[in-house]
Amino acid sequence: MNRIEIEQFLQEHKQRIEQTLPVYINTLQAPQTLKQAMSYSLEAGGKRIRPLLLLATLHAFGKEVEVGVPVACAIEMIHTYSLIHDDLPSMDNDDLRRGKPTNHKVFGEAMAILAGDGLLTYAFQVIAEMNAPTVTEEMKVKLIYELAKAAGPEGMVAGQVADMEGEGKELSLEQLEYIHRNKTGKMLQYSVLAGAILAGANEIQLEQLHAFASHLGLAFQIRDDILDIEGSEEKIGKRVGSDVENEKVTYPSLLTLDGAKEKLLYHINEAKRCLQDARVNDDVLCYICDLVATRDH
Ligand code: IPE
Ligand code: IPE
Ligand code: MG
Ligand code: MG
Ligand code: MG
Repeated sequence: MNRIEIEQFLQEHKQRIEQTLPVYINTLQAPQTLKQAMSYSLEAGGKRIRPLLLLATLHAFGKEVEVGVPVACAIEMIHTYSLIHDDLPSMDNDDLRRGKPTNHKVFGEAMAILAGDGLLTYAFQVIAEMNAPTVTEEMKVKLIYELAKAAGPEGMVAGQVADMEGEGKELSLEQLEYIHRNKTGKMLQYSVLAGAILAGANEIQLEQLHAFASHLGLAFQIRDDILDIEGSEEKIGKRVGSDVENEKVTYPSLLTLDGAKEKLLYHINEAKRCLQDARVNDDVLCYICDLVATRDH
């Protein structure tokens, strides 16, 4: 696909995800206030990079992307829950997210915690209830297992804990990399893995795509750290300078801004190299690498 077609692919599929997320919430038999709080953050916008990575991976294998929509929505639910909890006063204490007041600012802390809980658990229900002829029960179990590993105490939650415990301390680059790989990298990695599972990728391809997504995930959080310094609040839709205020160790704080940018580029180039090894149709995935490297929001 040429650049215009790739941009169209991303635009169209982003819309597809955004149309489907409210349907999932609307069909829930749950208290109205809870549904409102869940929808508020889910529908506040966001780049939808994780769902798009999943769909782009299916495309890379020449598969129909439609089959990936439920898992893509489940990933976005877990990601959104992680943001709601990340913003809580007891965590990063942020007031702005996706250009709107944070969930707890609107619904109160207790409801924000519960909205996060709801999004986290519902994600697994959505995958379990998937109903497509090409998706076997075995695939579903693998998708659920890998998601639990990526989001849970061996993944994102581990990263968030290390991030929190690292506040105000001196960390080595190795320790910081551990935080980034887990708090952000694991869910991005899962997005690619889920696409590959649904596409029926073989073990070798799974390994190569794992390496690709590992570099991409790290690059994504390095860019997030850079944007916390030189981004514009209006564009990123969240407060700039939150990391300094919370005494977080970040790539720029350890390596300087230029050093962080260099590292970012290194991981983007490595990601592209791994992608080439996998010998898939890499046009959209490659484009996403460039987006991650240069994004301003
Ligand atoms: C923000 O994620 C938190 C990180 C893991 C860096 P995104 O930058 O993907 O946020 P949205 O979904 O676009 O709002
Ligand atoms: C958060 O990292 C990662 C997760 C939510 C798991 P940050 O705390 O850097 O994310 P932002 O900058 O608030 O989006
Ligand atoms: Mg945080
Ligand atoms: Mg934060
Ligand atoms: Mg950040």
